[in-house]
Amino acid sequence: MKLAVIAGDGIGPEVVTEALKVLDVVAPGAEKVEYDLGAARYHRTGELLPESVIEELKQHDAILLGAIGDPSVTPGILERGLLLKLRFAMDHHVNLRPSKLFPGVSSPLSGNPDIDFVVVREGTEGPYTGTGGAIRVGTPHEVATEVSTNTRFGVERVVRYAFAKATQRRKHLTLVHKTNVLSFAGSLWERTVRAVGAEFPDVTIAYQHIDAATIHMVTDPGRFDVIVTDNLFGDIITDLAAAVSGGIGLAASGNIDASGVNASMFEPVHGSAPDIAGQSKADPTAAILSAALLLNHLGNTEAAGRIEAAVAKDLASRSGAATTVEIGDRIAASV
Ligand code: IPM
Ligand code: MN
Repeated sequence: MKLAVIAGDGIGPEVVTEALKVLDVVAPGAEKVEYDLGAARYHRTGELLPESVIEELKQHDAILLGAIGDPSVTPGILERGLLLKLRFAMDHHVNLRPSKLFPGVSSPLSGNPDIDFVVVREGTEGPYTGTGGAIRVGTPHEVATEVSTNTRFGVERVVRYAFAKATQRRKHLTLVHKTNVLSFAGSLWERTVRAVGAEFPDVTIAYQHIDAATIHMVTDPGRFDVIVTDNLFGDIITDLAAAVSGGIGLAASGNIDASGVNASMFEPVHGSAPDIAGQSKADPTAAILSAALLLNHLGNTEAAGRIEAAVAKDLASRSGAATTVEIGDRIAASV
């Protein structure tokens, strides 16, 4: 396995260290190349993501990323110039974000909610393409547009991925959109789900508006199996999904080029958390579960399963605060 590692900013290096510790146990002998990308490099050299680095990254089997973002850099520069650039340059059109409430983990939802679903968030289109503009900036007549781009090709490939995922699970797919208002894109998504759905007759299909979906995610999350949605709705709903299933410290994700041409990239959903960086306070579980997603993606389901089982065991027996390193050590010892 040829692995590129981007530790990144803030708590990124701390959580990646623990994820690699666990990976080394279940998949020993991986060849790792570390890439210095993030705020430090930007300050030192002015570079965000050189073309040559993109080309190198593409050649790996997978990429493990910690976190990108730092308060010393104007908001948007690292996000757009590095994180989103990585996703777009490598055609990571599937942003896979599973949510599962592990036994022993407390949810802010009452009772013992049944949470086990995956969000398949489109990753390279929607309002994230940077299309739009502003005129008369700073005047009372300023106008700003932010265009959401949805292509048949782009929607179809992510919808197909979501249906395929559903066939491996409880065979239920929910399209989340806002078709009552965003009627052009909504119609494209709806028609595409219906058309692709015909190829997957054993998968049942549901539809929810994004606003209603936030209610159901809180009142009845058990109704979801696979959610497919656009880039922005997916961004928002996966933070909610993380919050109801144990918090952002546990939420893993994969940025996947399902065509297999470019390396896919696995990262915790959380950010760089500069307020707790360097204090061994960050929970490395999201990064460790991201490593499990990475192994699953590469077909090593046995090793991925061992990580998930070790994480489940650790979560079930947690009492009191533990450091980043202690959690990593515990999980590495029981995989
Ligand atoms: C995420 C983040 C990013 C996104 C930001 C940092 C650009 O919120 O990974 O969910 O919006 O996709
Ligand atoms: Mn987000």
